[in-house]
Amino acid sequence: MSLQLDEKGKLRHFLSIDGLSRELLIDILDTAESFATVPEQSVKKVPLLRGKTIVNLFFEASTRTRTTFELAAKRLSADVLNINIGASSTVKGETLLDTLRNLQAMHADMFVVRHQESGSAHFIARHVKPYVSIINAGDGRHAHPTQAMLDMFTIRRHKKEFGKLCVAIIGDILHSRVARSQINALNMLGTGEVRVITPKTLLPNGHHSLGVQVHHDLKTGLKGTDVIIMLRLQNERMSGAMLPSEAEYFRLYGLTEEKLCGAKSDAIVMHPGPINRGVEMDSQVADGPRSVILQQVSHGIAIRMAVMSMAMHQGTGEAKDWGGGPLSRGKRGSEA
Ligand code: NCD
Repeated sequence: MSLQLDEKGKLRHFLSIDGLSRELLIDILDTAESFATVPEQSVKKVPLLRGKTIVNLFFEASTRTRTTFELAAKRLSADVLNINIGASSTVKGETLLDTLRNLQAMHADMFVVRHQESGSAHFIARHVKPYVSIINAGDGRHAHPTQAMLDMFTIRRHKKEFGKLCVAIIGDILHSRVARSQINALNMLGTGEVRVITPKTLLPNGHHSLGVQVHHDLKTGLKGTDVIIMLRLQNERMSGAMLPSEAEYFRLYGLTEEKLCGAKSDAIVMHPGPINRGVEMDSQVADGPRSVILQQVSHGIAIRMAVMSMAMHQGTGEAKDWGGGPLSRGKRGSEA
């Protein structure tokens, strides 16, 4: 049985896109859609997770992911603890499992975990009590499923039908957990064509099984694309020099207005952040009319609200009523 699902096939942990059905992914997108209007309410909250305790456990740096998880939990009315790993007993040698067991003893209901080791979220999910949920906020190079889902949400808002789309993911595929999760999600949602455009040194060995077209030339790879997803060079995960220089990388793979001309005229440009301006893209593109990069950040809150409420078994139907349906206005006044 899948570690991520309960015996009824409902989400219990959210660890990777791999192993989830197309129906479940669409359910996450639809549930997120129902939460998208919560920030427009006068009280930006729904009471779905009132009385629940969510712990953010980030062993790696994060800006967008950690803060949007915190905001999402608060908008669901949960109590949130942010553990500062640099100031925790991890620096005194406490193991990951011991840290977790101690937090569990404080009756936490959910852990949102980012960790440098691939597989860490699955490992933790295997060791927690049956009522505790784990959400993977990025494990090594392996997976970053909420990032992929917020990207799918952004694409669906702009482009609607995945079957007719050509999507290109550009840059450091080898070290990118974001790319791996995006490719899984795009394929599961039936995307017409998924391309990766990358130098040979940044292409993973097992790329034949990924279900993507591989390009090494940016100009030919961009031809006819509807969606362009740029990636950061994950220098912190590179063991040696894999590129001649950042300037050379920008010359060959950096996105500029001029190179963008090869894509469809209504192509959108995405990036999970953080951007390294002048390395993977220039500012004209990052801040230009085709960029939906800041929309991705906003959508991250709705997606994380959806995943957290679903994993806590706050049924999706109920979530829809609270989030965007006609009931949201009537019930708003009753929540703290
Ligand atoms: C990504 C990550 O941490 O995997 N960022 C994010 O979560 N928004 C991508 C990156 O660090 O380049």
